[in-house]
Amino acid sequence: MNLIFLGPPGAGKGTIAQQIVEDTGLIQISTGDLLRAAVKEGTELGKKAKEYMDSGKLVPDDLVINMLKERIAKDDCKNGFILDGFPRTIPQADALGAAEVEIDKVMNFNVSDDLVIHRITGRRTSKSTGKIYNIYPECAPNPPEGHPENDLQQRADDNEEVVKKRLVQYREQTEPLIGYYIKKELLVDIDAAKKLDEIVADVKAAISS
Ligand code: AP5
Repeated sequence: MNLIFLGPPGAGKGTIAQQIVEDTGLIQISTGDLLRAAVKEGTELGKKAKEYMDSGKLVPDDLVINMLKERIAKDDCKNGFILDGFPRTIPQADALGAAEVEIDKVMNFNVSDDLVIHRITGRRTSKSTGKIYNIYPECAPNPPEGHPENDLQQRADDNEEVVKKRLVQYREQTEPLIGYYIKKELLVDIDAAKKLDEIVADVKAAISS
């Protein structure tokens, strides 16, 4: 089973993927995480990607496509994966097709811009485990009680100004993928404004239908 998680920034793609992999054994491949790791390690790719990411722009297709192809060629992907944040453009989707990567379903996470901005400003990631949390009580999951505050970090692009730019990029470059995957009869709409547990249940039901 190979899945694509599609949706605006802050829709919950990463959070839901982390929960689905626990039960299914699928591998989560987040192009955002791979790029942030490259930036941290100071690789050539990381140096090229940083400026785009910090300003809320998409990293050029050729760089991301090569990185993704290298990742899915690894052994741990043989039993299936969730592509979280890829493809983000029509050329990226075409590259998957050209590489003969079979996709079973595309989960399309729908959520309003206001909710996205709220969720993103409260997002924190655990430095030690990579787990995604949110510090606002009405968001989920919250860090467990007593979780050390210095283990939680905020992403450089998680501020209102950059999120608004990321939303513009999403509308212009990524949203056309909805029609692209409807035509291929792969798209499943998911209401991502619901409670986390409900969304996880909806995604699991869609996977097994
Ligand atoms: P990336 O890391 O992929 O960021 P994104 O797509 O903008 O998505 P996010 O990670 O911001 O959101 P998410 O949907 O995963 O939400 P999350 O689950 O964390 O990309 C970053 C940058 O890298 C891009 O801007 C670009 O520059 C570059 N890049 C990456 N891939 C690329 C590609 N393919 N091509 C070109 N460039 C690329 O949830 C958000 C928060 O809400 C969390 O705190 C969570 O706890 C909370 N939450 C989630 N669900 C719920 C819920 N149901 N109820 C309450 N709270 C919730």
